Amino acid sequence: MSVLDVKVVKDYIRMCSDTVGQGWHERNGGNLTYRMRPEEVEVCRPYFRAVPGEWVNMGVQAENLAGEYFISTGSGKFLRNVELEPQNNICIAELNGTGDSYRIVWGLEAGGVPTSEFPTHMMNHSVRKRVTNGENRIIYHAHPPYIIALTYVLPLKAEVFTRMLWKSATECCVVFPDGVGVVPWMVPGGTDIARATCEQMERYEAAIWAFHGLFVSGTSFDIAFGLMHTIEKAAQIASIALSASPDGKIRQVITDDNLRTIGKEFGVTLNEDVLNYRSDDPLFF
Ligand code: 13P
Ligand code: ZN
Repeated sequence: MSVLDVKVVKDYIRMCSDTVGQGWHERNGGNLTYRMRPEEVEVCRPYFRAVPGEWVNMGVQAENLAGEYFISTGSGKFLRNVELEPQNNICIAELNGTGDSYRIVWGLEAGGVPTSEFPTHMMNHSVRKRVTNGENRIIYHAHPPYIIALTYVLPLKAEVFTRMLWKSATECCVVFPDGVGVVPWMVPGGTDIARATCEQMERYEAAIWAFHGLFVSGTSFDIAFGLMHTIEKAAQIASIALSASPDGKIRQVITDDNLRTIGKEFGVTLNEDVLNYRSDDPLFF
């Protein structure tokens, strides 16, 4: 028995492999954190390091995460290697009593630190834990190519991206009824981008980083994987449609009334600010 036999750790590793298979993780691109349930921490605790790592200040504070434990990918580690050597590519990190520092209690046995996006992950966990009444468990960052491509051609506005994605596949609005936020280009790996991203996560379940990638949240690995997959597939359809059109124009789309009908039939409340948004540019219906 070891940490690697615990179901949640196996599920975490499977998520790393599945997402690599989708082509979203070139090199060390992307990272994944999971907020552990207390009973999962207890099952893993006997295998924790005898001497935990030093406390490391994160530069951000997440008071509602004080004392919680997270599984995290290591900074600079390739997600494709997680399955082969989990103990050297992922870790379990504990937050301190004020929620501003972490220490490693398991993993990264050959050295290393949690993802450079740990401040963004923790700020996002803090917000999503609050707005979902503790249901949210996962924050996941990837570099999916079509959503990144769209950040070069669409106005960098949450309403524009959400409308484009909702109208690119019929069931998108059911999968992300709050919509997708957008963060303009910023230097990754720091506290400024962490704060900008968690502002978006107050209102949306996902946030695009212009010219970089996408952050999603989720209550389970399936939900987080499914959200990344759904958003990226919608972006792929939008990219193909825009580039297939001889004049770059979209001729017909799912209308706002269609979206309202889907919301009603599926019993989900769509973000009204997105539904009511009108762009000056007719291309961005
Ligand atoms: P890490 O290897 O530090 O997780 O960074 C990858 C990444 O995608 C940064 O945005
Ligand atoms: Zn990245």
